[in-house]
Amino acid sequence: MYTVPKLEDYSPEALDRAVAELFSALDAESRDLHSESDWKAFHDRWLARKNGVLTQINDTWLKAAPGPAKREVGRRVNELKARTEAAIEAAQDKIHASASSTKLAADRLDITLPGIQRPIGVKHPVLRVMDEIVAVFKAMGYSVGEGPEVETDYYNFESLNFPPNHPARDTQDTLFIADQESKPARDRLLLRTHTSPVQIRTMEQQPPPVRIVIPGKVHRNDPLDATHSPVFHQVEGLAVDTNITFCDLKGTLDHAMKALFGSSVKTRFYPSFFPFTEPSADMQVSCIFCGGKGCRKCKFSGWIELLGCGMVDPNVFDFVKQNGYDSSKISGFAFGMGVERIAILKYEVEEIQLFYEGDVRFLEQFA
Ligand code: PHE
Repeated sequence: MYTVPKLEDYSPEALDRAVAELFSALDAESRDLHSESDWKAFHDRWLARKNGVLTQINDTWLKAAPGPAKREVGRRVNELKARTEAAIEAAQDKIHASASSTKLAADRLDITLPGIQRPIGVKHPVLRVMDEIVAVFKAMGYSVGEGPEVETDYYNFESLNFPPNHPARDTQDTLFIADQESKPARDRLLLRTHTSPVQIRTMEQQPPPVRIVIPGKVHRNDPLDATHSPVFHQVEGLAVDTNITFCDLKGTLDHAMKALFGSSVKTRFYPSFFPFTEPSADMQVSCIFCGGKGCRKCKFSGWIELLGCGMVDPNVFDFVKQNGYDSSKISGFAFGMGVERIAILKYEVEEIQLFYEGDVRFLEQFA
């Protein structure tokens, strides 16, 4: 490392040599700087007021110079100070430039690197089954419709032939929107308890013939248990045309069940009641677990009840009579099935809650 020599000879040549030596040392040191802290040490070594190289030069060269040489030495020392300071400043610029260029290199986009893979989810089992049911009917020429989840009493009950005091209209069974008392009963809002109101909404929108399925969410004021949830899903079906008979209903649903559960499944229709169908039936499928022999799942009956259906009640057509639905000329059938119920059977799910908890370990099994 450079140390300031004492000058014996003050001739211009000797001074030139001393200055040249100092600059070659300064140059060498400035080339060996790699970081801000290297530079700081370099700066202090040369410029520190106390004992920095320039201070030493002042002391050992200028102050010690004999009278006649002082002018010449002073001129060179001034020049040398300016050059040294400039060199030190330039060295700092160089360090800053290389630091920011390595930072830029780190930020640079390498388009040849593999991308970040974000796992895309899978369709929820309830939606999957809902889509599957809809697809079965689409293949038979049905169109797909939807309706509002917040419904009026008129569409959910009145136009479906529910009598004014039917128990389903009770707050025990139906979730009503609050503060509706000032409205006429038929305009009061509620969370639809089934997808059947979309039957009327569809017939208001289009004259017969109709072939439509309506998937959707429904609500009931039911406590949660292993097989019931206050929110669940249904797929509604409606077919209206001239000469639609109960045979069409049976054939259509029998085909749909075979498409959903496999061709060996059997169906049977058991008398039931709904205000908006007459006659009404509960459709049962032969137990998909035991094939109809009887097991714990079908309570040893060999049959599992799956959906409600029936021939559209003429009283329902009367609500859309002006739209081409004359019950003396046309007839129709309707059905409504619970999606979760079918999903539970298809995938042997133990508890309905599993569908709503969002537990990835459950959902991953449908990937
Ligand atoms: N809406 C009925 C229910 O939710 C099912 C149904 C639909 C019955 C259409 C007959 C016809 O239970």
